[in-house]
Amino acid sequence: MSLPKAELHLHIEGTLEPELAFELAARNGVELPYADTDALRKAYRFEDLQSFLNLYYELMAVLRTERDFEDLANAYLARAAAQGVRHAEIFFDPQAHLARGVQMGTVVEGLSRALSRSEDVHGVSTQLIMCFLRDESAQSALETLEAAKPYLDRIVGVGLDSAEVGHPPAKFREVYQAAAALGLRRVAHAGEEGPPEYIVEALDVLGVERIDHGLRCMESPELVARLVRDRVPLTLCPLSNVRLRTVDVLADHPLPAMLDAGLLCTVNSDDPAYFGGYAGDNFDAVRSALGLGEERLRELARNSFLASFLEHDEELRARYLAEVEAYEF
Ligand code: ADE
Ligand code: ZN
Repeated sequence: MSLPKAELHLHIEGTLEPELAFELAARNGVELPYADTDALRKAYRFEDLQSFLNLYYELMAVLRTERDFEDLANAYLARAAAQGVRHAEIFFDPQAHLARGVQMGTVVEGLSRALSRSEDVHGVSTQLIMCFLRDESAQSALETLEAAKPYLDRIVGVGLDSAEVGHPPAKFREVYQAAAALGLRRVAHAGEEGPPEYIVEALDVLGVERIDHGLRCMESPELVARLVRDRVPLTLCPLSNVRLRTVDVLADHPLPAMLDAGLLCTVNSDDPAYFGGYAGDNFDAVRSALGLGEERLRELARNSFLASFLEHDEELRARYLAEVEAYEF
């Protein structure tokens, strides 16, 4: 049995494995510019975030129907469950689909079909977080929130992703204010490639409750002190950081220093089909490359449930936390 954990930083479109991409391409009559899955896998060499995003958006062309989104989510949930994920807060990128003529309802209904059965089928509780693309306009984000209004019973919060540098959080002040007024939880990617100031802005201007990545907080002792004091969770993605060259090699990852500093870190998979591993793989990788001991791993698992948006079911959170404490390595 694997260490029980919550996955808090997972883009559902980033779970599209090459085999499923080709299956959906055939089903929908979409031509992919790769001969086969091996050729596609060879394209998984990234220089930085943007070079990854180019492929990530390109492959989304195969996602067209509710059934496609349902199959995508089911495939992820099965893999996550096999690696000890007990709760998943799943990002999706509606603007990338709306731009291709795929409706909000198609995406949300398709994902919901898999998610609503997930506890029974996979033993994984789930929530959905809708992300705005920060390299699109603030107006587009507002329109996306408007389009999501009929589906807000299925969406727990909003996030901010895509190309970070040059798109500071403050650009999205208005849409985050509107999201807060609708009772949505707020998170944002910040400090992945962007500077520590973006993390400060996400907290001060957008009012986020968690920071996705947040790695570059380590450049500002003042910011680290604030994040520690306010117990702001960081959703780190170690294998992603290596693949996108934010850190050179996993052995150089600042996770141990971040834990030593008292930061509330969690370990997640980001886009597992592209970065070489799901949540459990990320735990295994930091364990071996960074020499994290059992109590550090237990702390990471505990943090994942503490940082989860499970306020609607504190009994469930307590049950998960008890599973973490009882886990025998
Ligand atoms: N979209 C999917 N994965 C992402 C990442 N790691 N950073 C920003 N946007 C993303
Ligand atoms: Zn991400």
